[in-house]
Amino acid sequence: MVVSPKIAPSMLSSDFANLAAEANRMIDLGANWLHMDIMDGHFVPNLTIGAPVIESLRKHTNAYLDCHLMVTNPMDYVEHMAKAGASGFTFHVEVAKENWQQLVEKIKSAGMRPAVALKPGTPVEQVYPLVEGTTPVEMVLVMTVEPGFGGQKFMPNMMDKVRALRHKYPTLDIQVDGGLGPSTIDTAAAAGANCIVAGSSVFGAPEPGDVISLLRTSVEKAQPTT
Ligand code: DX5
Ligand code: ZN
Repeated sequence: MVVSPKIAPSMLSSDFANLAAEANRMIDLGANWLHMDIMDGHFVPNLTIGAPVIESLRKHTNAYLDCHLMVTNPMDYVEHMAKAGASGFTFHVEVAKENWQQLVEKIKSAGMRPAVALKPGTPVEQVYPLVEGTTPVEMVLVMTVEPGFGGQKFMPNMMDKVRALRHKYPTLDIQVDGGLGPSTIDTAAAAGANCIVAGSSVFGAPEPGDVISLLRTSVEKAQPTT
């Protein structure tokens, strides 16, 4: 397998009042990462959690906290997120056009894994320099819904971006986020996505563990075997 599947339940769809228990339940059911949606009420029309909640959660789990920052000023969050115990720091390319190189370096030197996300309307070419930079991002997140809310419909036309990235970068971690579940995973996996975020389809299922396994199997099957 060239790239390995990383299944990341989006904790946005969990019971925030029982976050530690929900997080550990997901890891026990086979999740690789926990996807944490940080929204500032400005970059997106919703407000969620920030570093204090990450810090509290970190006391209850050693899991990889895959933090997706839907914020206007990602640079201002790097230090706080690192101190809080974030593992991955994904910023949006739309708000880092001028300073992405400095931002990636800061994320790395703070001990986190840098990644870049793009909204549905943003052309994929915009992230190429970040993957090819001297300090490159280590994952690209292709949004498959408009960021801001869980439970939206998967946008299949985003798969052109995933295919283009997979073709150019065979070993890159490519993440998809929004509307992923049993009915859409095969499309995303066939296009080349290996990091799968899923909120409502996992937390809304009677057996979330079955959905996590199904997502992983689909990614494994779509992988080239050479
Ligand atoms: C949306 C968030 C997603 C969201 C996905 O802005 O980035 O992570 O929680 O939720 P589902 O899987 O329900 O579309
Ligand atoms: Zn997300």
